[in-house]
Amino acid sequence: MEKVSEIINKARKMNIAIPAFNVPYLPMIEPIIQAVIDEDSFSLIEVARVEWMKMGAKGPREVYEEFIKWEKPNYVRLHLDHVPVIDEDNKRVDYLPIIKEALEMGYESVMVDGSRLDLEANIQATRRVVELAHKKDAACEAELGAVMGHEPGPLPPYEEIFASGKGFTDVKEAEIFVAQTNCDWLSVAIGNIHGAISGALRNKKKPEARLDIKHLSRLSEVTRIPLVLHGGSGIAREYYLEAVKNGISKVNVGTELRQTYEAALQEDNSIAKAQDAVYNHTRNLISGYYNVSGIQKKIFG
Ligand code: 13P
Repeated sequence: MEKVSEIINKARKMNIAIPAFNVPYLPMIEPIIQAVIDEDSFSLIEVARVEWMKMGAKGPREVYEEFIKWEKPNYVRLHLDHVPVIDEDNKRVDYLPIIKEALEMGYESVMVDGSRLDLEANIQATRRVVELAHKKDAACEAELGAVMGHEPGPLPPYEEIFASGKGFTDVKEAEIFVAQTNCDWLSVAIGNIHGAISGALRNKKKPEARLDIKHLSRLSEVTRIPLVLHGGSGIAREYYLEAVKNGISKVNVGTELRQTYEAALQEDNSIAKAQDAVYNHTRNLISGYYNVSGIQKKIFG
């Protein structure tokens, strides 16, 4: 079976970005997988720590157990998204046991998020996880720079973030970081923001993000590994398409489908109907915005 790192490397060569769909609720897993299969596409299913701490994903084991009921490895693989070293509430996290357990269980790739640490501490934390992951033949994603949005409280106005380049991944640091950690994929901050997950903002439409494509292309040149775009819901599409041509090989999608599931559930109080809504919306995203229908055959030949 092809390793997920090989699949993402192929995507990079083909200038395709593989969507990674977050599953903050367990019943979202089946319809997303079915939509990927029905679109002849390929995606990752992923869960972040915040989604079992603050939403309905329950835990990495519960997600794994639901995933293996529906999995088809030529269409979907399972990824552990953001396990932060310092979380969105500024609390230290005992991140290694979480990641170890997921790798033991069968997650094929994991993300350690040391982005709230300084460069040296982020390198150290990432190195530990790279070592663990590679021992299991799994891939390790890391983050450098700050993709904001998950923290409680309002963000500064979006235009201010973009114009100031606040939190953007530094090019020189990215070169050093990748050389010293040997991470497989790097999440970069180039104007992208996460959808809010707390308070009244969690149900609101995200501000439409733009991306600094020149900056991205410099990051891609110096790192020469697949780059990951977090905050993949609601980015202005022309910027997204350019990003894929300039080094983005994986795109994380959370808010789009979470809000679809929650809104449908609230309207009808029926999980089956909410699953239908997620299925339809995932198909539309795959064939429309992300434009990855039919990539399964291109990837697997
Ligand atoms: P959005 O919720 O903004 O799509 O971001 C998801 C994400 O980046 C998860 O890691």
